[in-house]
Amino acid sequence: MEEAMGRPHALAIPLPAQGHVIPLMELSYCLAERGFKITFVNSEFIHERLMTALPDDSNIKNQIHFVSIPDGMGPGEDRNQFAKLLQCISRTMPSYLEELIKKMNESCKDKITCIIADENMGWAVKVAKKMGIPQAAFWPSSACLRALSVHIPKLIEAGVIDANGITRKQEILQLSSTLPVMDTTQLPWHCFDDPMMQQTVFHNSFTNNQAVKDADWLLCNSFYEIEPSAYPLNPNLLPIGPLLAGSQQRQFAGNFWQEDSTCLSWLNQQPACSVIYVSFGSFTVLDQTQFHELALGLELTDHKFLWVVRPDLTAGQAATYPEGFQARVAARGRTVSWAPQQTVLAHPSIACFMTHCGWNSTMEGLSMGVPFLCWPYFADQFLNQSYISDVWKVGLRLNSDHNGIVSREEIKKKVEEVLGNEKIRERALALKEMADKSVREGGSSTKNLNDFVEAMKGK
Ligand code: UDX
Repeated sequence: MEEAMGRPHALAIPLPAQGHVIPLMELSYCLAERGFKITFVNSEFIHERLMTALPDDSNIKNQIHFVSIPDGMGPGEDRNQFAKLLQCISRTMPSYLEELIKKMNESCKDKITCIIADENMGWAVKVAKKMGIPQAAFWPSSACLRALSVHIPKLIEAGVIDANGITRKQEILQLSSTLPVMDTTQLPWHCFDDPMMQQTVFHNSFTNNQAVKDADWLLCNSFYEIEPSAYPLNPNLLPIGPLLAGSQQRQFAGNFWQEDSTCLSWLNQQPACSVIYVSFGSFTVLDQTQFHELALGLELTDHKFLWVVRPDLTAGQAATYPEGFQARVAARGRTVSWAPQQTVLAHPSIACFMTHCGWNSTMEGLSMGVPFLCWPYFADQFLNQSYISDVWKVGLRLNSDHNGIVSREEIKKKVEEVLGNEKIRERALALKEMADKSVREGGSSTKNLNDFVEAMKGK
């Protein structure tokens, strides 16, 4: 095979969402370090956002080649209409991708030797197969979540969900005795109010699962030691995480928003283990009532805090703080619109992480040994919360009151509890050690990644 003798060239294709672009970019760095040429294929819309957020002094373009193809939506259309976006993508992107590959192979001396596609873009694996290019599907969440997707036909057969993924009755579901329990009303696709969205997400997970079933490689951003019983339920799934880019090498992590790094000098002035870091990822939306309550809760704790308030955190309207809040907390609280999260979590001043439990945030908090306060919003985050608080026992849940609000008193109470719990901190540090070990020389994830690399290099 002529290509296998030259420089391997991987085409990486993420789902166009922040929590999917970041881990695939991290995998791309790992492969670039191991001698791969990387072409990263974004939708045009995301490409533009990334290039706008890219710091002027970044040298990323020396390591990763960025290209883009249309996602099938019009220029002004709202990409937050996720069901529509997914439909447009699967209708239009496959032919654009095929065309792109043909063009690149004609014009570029390093022909494409493998395609690494987010499993949620299962159609890309099919394109690769059709073109005779080796393929890997990349799963950016837990192995347990993937086991749930694999299990969908059995759940339908057992009547736990109907053919559209809907459950009529609240039940507890556990795929194996050492995996987290799931509430059937909180299955990932159930968390959307819009029935069209529910069905699209449900059918997509099933369709993608089928599409990547025979992919040459199935990779995931997790590590064996934290969820060993999920792998027997996921034939051929290879954990290669936790994938981290931002902290050690200060590389551009693939942010859609510009990072505000000024918070790092502020953190440098804070005592060890004194700051609550509050961040809800890229998608979570809080209503104004909850936003106020959170602000007042942070004030009530009397602790220092660093809070990421994304420009769209409060449903498209600019967030309004409780009257006088900013002046009252100025000496001990900082807000930023987007933080260099991995570096923040690795900072010695961080005492705990109030998080929506997105899988990337979960992997990052765990890799830095930080105790969690869990506040899940949607999708797999309830499952991740279960892992954190019930299985690994490195954090606590923030519970809502009868109005569906996490109250200021609950926030104060759980902050005190998590900070005062030595056992939680010890377990968090033990998991950090486990995570470090898995990505060190000889560690389980490093071995898996190296196997993949060697196979792709054709050795
Ligand atoms: C989503 C889902 O929530 C998640 O559960 C799924 O597995 C992947 O897609 P998101 O909601 O954005 O992602 O959360 P998360 O998975 O935690 O990813 C957010 C990423 O943004 C993390 O890598 C985090 O480090 C980064 N981030 C977040 C920043 O760099 N700065 C910030 O201020 C906030």
